[in-house]
Amino acid sequence: MESIAVVTGGAGGIGLAIAGKLAQSHEAVYIADLHPERLSRSQEYKSLVSEGRIRAYHCDVTQSGDVMQMASFISSKGKIRTLINNAGATDCGSLQELTSESWRREISLNLDAAFVCFHAFAEKLKLNRGVVVNITSVNGFSVYGNPAYSAAKAGLIHFTKSIAVEYGKFGVRANSVAPGTVRTSIWNVKIQENPKLFDDILQFYPLGRIVNPQDVADAVMFLVSDQAAAITGVCLPVDCGLTAGQAPMARTLTQSDSY
Ligand SMILES: NC(=O)c1ccc[n+]([C@@H]2O[C@H](COP(=O)([O-])OP(=O)(O)OC[C@H]3O[C@@H](n4cnc5c(N)ncnc54)[C@H](O)[C@@H]3O)[C@@H](O)[C@H]2O)c1
Repeated sequence: MESIAVVTGGAGGIGLAIAGKLAQSHEAVYIADLHPERLSRSQEYKSLVSEGRIRAYHCDVTQSGDVMQMASFISSKGKIRTLINNAGATDCGSLQELTSESWRREISLNLDAAFVCFHAFAEKLKLNRGVVVNITSVNGFSVYGNPAYSAAKAGLIHFTKSIAVEYGKFGVRANSVAPGTVRTSIWNVKIQENPKLFDDILQFYPLGRIVNPQDVADAVMFLVSDQAAAITGVCLPVDCGLTAGQAPMARTLTQSDSY
C-alpha cells in the first residue's frame, strides 16, 4: 500500500513547498484545495505532478461533507501517514472592522477546518502511527493585526497539544509550525495597497529577511520525520527571529548601538 501525506491548502505558496518536500518520504502527496487547478500551473513541481507523486483533490475544508468525501477517497488509495492542516486565509485586519460574519468565516477556515480534517483522518492516523502538523502563525502568539485569524491560530496551537496528549498512546504525534511573514499569494491584496510592504517589515526581523516557503517546508519535513520521533505537542516558530524580540526596542531601552 502506498504511504500517503495530505496537505490542505496545498496548491498555495507554503502548501506546495511542503508537498514537494513530503514527496521525498511518501509515495504520494494529496493536495486538498479549493483551487487544485493551480497545481497544473506550477513549473517547479511539474515532474512530481506528472509522475503522480503530487495529486490534486478539490475540497473546501470548511465544508464537513466535502472533507468526509475527500478523506474517504484518499484513504482508499493507501496508508495515511501524514496530515498537514495548512489551508488558511484572512482578510479582516482589525477588531473595529470585524463583523460577526467575518469572525465566524475566519474561525471556520483557520481553526474549525483543522479539527474537521483531523477528525476525518483520525482512525487512519491511529492505525498508522501517523503524524499531524498544523500550520499556525506568529499571530497565534502576539498581536500583529487580523484578530479573528489570530484567535484561530492561537486555538490551533492548543488543539495541536490536545491531539498530542490524547493520541500519544496510539503513537500519533502532533506539532505546529508558526511562520512569520512569508512571501505568498496570501499577501496579494496588501501588496497592491503597499508595494513596499515586504521591505517595510524587514526592520522587525532580527535576521533582516522574511521567511520563504522552503523554510517552512524544511521545518515541517523535520517534524514529520523520525528525527523528531520524541517531539510532540510543540509549536516551532519559523520566523527569522521575530518573536525572539525587537532589536529597535532593545536599542532604545539600553541606548546601546550593539543592537
Ligand atoms: N504567508 C504568510 O505570511 C503566512 C504567515 C504565517 C502563517 N501562514 C499560514 O500558512 C498557511 C498557508 O498560507 P500561504 O501563505 O501559502 O497562502 P496561499 O494563499 O498561498 O495558500 C493558501 C491555500 O489555501 C487554499 N484554501 C483557502 N481556503 C480554502 C478552503 N476553504 N478549502 C481548501 N483550501 C483552501 C487556497 O486555495 C490556497 O491554495 C495558512 O494557514 C496561513 O495562515 C502564512
